[in-house]
Amino acid sequence: MRVLVTGSAGFIGGHVVAAFEGAGHDVLGFDLRSGADVRDDAALDRMLPGVALVVHQAAKVGLGVDVSDLPAYASANVYGTAVLLAAMARHGVERLVLASSMVVYGEGAYDCAEHGRVRPGPRSRIDLERGRFEPSCPVCGAQVRHAVISEDAPTDPRNAYATTKLAQEHLVAGWARETGGTAVALRYHNVYGPRMPRDTPYAGVAAIFRSALEAGRTPRVFEDGGQLRDFVHVRDVARANLAAAGAGAPGRLVAYNVASGTPHTVGEMAAALAAARGGPEPVVTGEYRLGDVRHIVASPALARAELGFAAEIGFETGMKEFATAPLGES
Ligand code: UD1
Repeated sequence: MRVLVTGSAGFIGGHVVAAFEGAGHDVLGFDLRSGADVRDDAALDRMLPGVALVVHQAAKVGLGVDVSDLPAYASANVYGTAVLLAAMARHGVERLVLASSMVVYGEGAYDCAEHGRVRPGPRSRIDLERGRFEPSCPVCGAQVRHAVISEDAPTDPRNAYATTKLAQEHLVAGWARETGGTAVALRYHNVYGPRMPRDTPYAGVAAIFRSALEAGRTPRVFEDGGQLRDFVHVRDVARANLAAAGAGAPGRLVAYNVASGTPHTVGEMAAALAAARGGPEPVVTGEYRLGDVRHIVASPALARAELGFAAEIGFETGMKEFATAPLGES
């Protein structure tokens, strides 16, 4: 079928294009880097005729630097998606796969021995200063144990990027209801792999460590290095998009975690990359960033059951490749 991939020149978008082409689809790329803006009706009107599926990867990503970034995030991600959805309705395009993010959850899920499943609020500066990195029970203050987060967890976006990703999901759900369209949101966990953009203020931790190692600098592991993330390889993420292309139901948006299902600590990730490159060894600094969440451990079960998607590239293999694979421009 004819597929329009927005953000096709980006890190994940590029791998998505390759996966769809590999499966024999007719892929049209759409990217700001080649002058095609999802906020531009005329550009969409040129590209959408005959398209059966839009895979929407185009977005302003990362955490943002400060509130001066808010208009740019809202414009690219929220307004851009709104313009795209209206254009899809004009052209009768009935299927959408949306690149969403684990950041819609905010902090991960935790269990308190006394109070069961709880959602701790943001960690306080005082606790972080004292090196108390683990969140505590919002009811009794006791230490909590991290649990896996599934798609029905309440959303709690904590920064501009997260807010715009959740807004995209809501806009898409509205589009599906009103047009009878079929939509799948893929909540990516920590994506890494070849052509990941190099170190910028907006980069995720894997790119930061990889860039440091390339420059001969020591990767600096914040907190105590024990924070858990699910690092999922970009080629697996591209396969998840392919699996989502034929999934879902008319009139609905369904969201799936896209994760490996095998969490690792940030300290382990730094060590694996450094070992594969032959150093320098990472240091655990005890620094913290106020907006960071402690652990996010994903359940990949729903994606496996309903999309038939399971990640195939393991942590050791993937990190070994990533340690020396080329980085991309951001
Ligand atoms: C990241 C992305 C988020 C994306 C999500 C899923 C950023 C800034 N965050 O969230 O947008 O949706 O993955 O793909 O792009 N750390 C260090 N040393 C450093 C930098 C960070 O130890 O030099 C630690 C942080 O303190 C944190 C962890 O690494 O504990 C992860 O940081 P990061 O990748 O920035 O953010 P995520 O919360 O995982």
